[in-house]
Amino acid sequence: MDTNAGRLRRLGSDAPIAHVPVEERYRTLVDAIQDYAIFLLDPTGHIASWNAGAERIKGYRADEIIGQHFSVFYPAEAIAQNYPSEELKRAAALGRWEDEGWRIRKGGSRFWANVVITALRDEDGDLIGFAKVTRDLTERERLKQLEYASELAARVETTREEEKKRIARELHDDLGQQLTALKMIITGLLADEGSTPEAQAYARERTRTMSNAIDHALASVRRLAAGLRPTMLDDLGLLPALDWLVTDFGQHTGLRVALNCNTHRVAFNDTASTALFRIVQEGLTNVARHATSATEVVIDLRCDRSSCELTILNDGAVVTRLAEPAAGRPPSSGIAGIRDRVRRLGGTFAAGPLPQGGYRIQLSIPRKAVELDLPPGQ
Ligand SMILES: Nc1ncnc2c1ncn2[C@@H]1O[C@H](COP(=O)(O)OP(=O)(O)O)[C@@H](O)[C@H]1O
Ligand SMILES: [Mg+2]
Repeated sequence: MDTNAGRLRRLGSDAPIAHVPVEERYRTLVDAIQDYAIFLLDPTGHIASWNAGAERIKGYRADEIIGQHFSVFYPAEAIAQNYPSEELKRAAALGRWEDEGWRIRKGGSRFWANVVITALRDEDGDLIGFAKVTRDLTERERLKQLEYASELAARVETTREEEKKRIARELHDDLGQQLTALKMIITGLLADEGSTPEAQAYARERTRTMSNAIDHALASVRRLAAGLRPTMLDDLGLLPALDWLVTDFGQHTGLRVALNCNTHRVAFNDTASTALFRIVQEGLTNVARHATSATEVVIDLRCDRSSCELTILNDGAVVTRLAEPAAGRPPSSGIAGIRDRVRRLGGTFAAGPLPQGGYRIQLSIPRKAVELDLPPGQ
């Protein structure tokens, strides 16, 4: 009855690998791994070891990279925000830190990475360095994005249809009725042939009514056009358009809305102003639609030399459950649309309910992507 015992013996002390010291076994194992970049950092973030997977994924040979600081793998905007050191701090505090984001290969190309950083401590608990494991998820992310793009296209189509319906309804119900009223008054005036003083006074009275009706129709046209795209976004720029949006929202909902900006000197390009305007518009619509007990919204738009940050924060009840999209469906188009706009501008985005109640949308876009003179294709 050899079988099991024999097999165990073969894998046990008789196996050639058993004669290799344990440390060397692990080194051989780590060195041989191609799919993961596995390497060590000293406590300050300098690279102390390198494996085949790291060379394959990041493009550097061990002799080129050992001794360098691991921030060489991060995009400039992450470095400007001190993100690499922030990651080490979090790993040191929590023991383990996991993240997904863009990283840079030798030569400058980007890849989408899953990163796990584990703090290494000696027996006394002193930090001796970090183990870093990185996976290249570019292909997975690309497939996800293709799927996402086609779902999004379908949703954009639906949203467009709804928008057309809304415009048609407003044109019919509002402008249509006002114009019909005008038509009736004019018909009455035309039919009135009398020229007595009473008839003239009556005609003057009707002309005044008509003039008022024209004012209403003009206001409707303006409102309709502003709902589609506020002309002041093109004529006056992002901040006046945001001011208008916030004031209009406050008047319609009765909520207090604060808009804090330090961006009077920033020359926003067209893509960024449209994106930021639409994001604030969607954020406010969501407050009106979902945050039923909100009393206040605070919008902060701040730029420093490296990035522009937008936060939309409302108070209100603790959200215990978000309205879930049906199984297998992508998230609904509002938040997904915001994420997509931010992604196209190369930024980062987060949204969600807050533990103390209310909801927050927060995003950061590299400064160079919001300002004029974008390279073509942005
Ligand atoms: N300000 C908010 N307060 C509470 N919940 C919110 C808020 N904004 C968004 N949500 C939640 O996030 C979900 C997704 O929002 P969104 O993508 O805009 O979709 P929609 O508004 O069409 O439901 C909402 O259904 C809601 O559950
Ligand atoms: Mg919404």
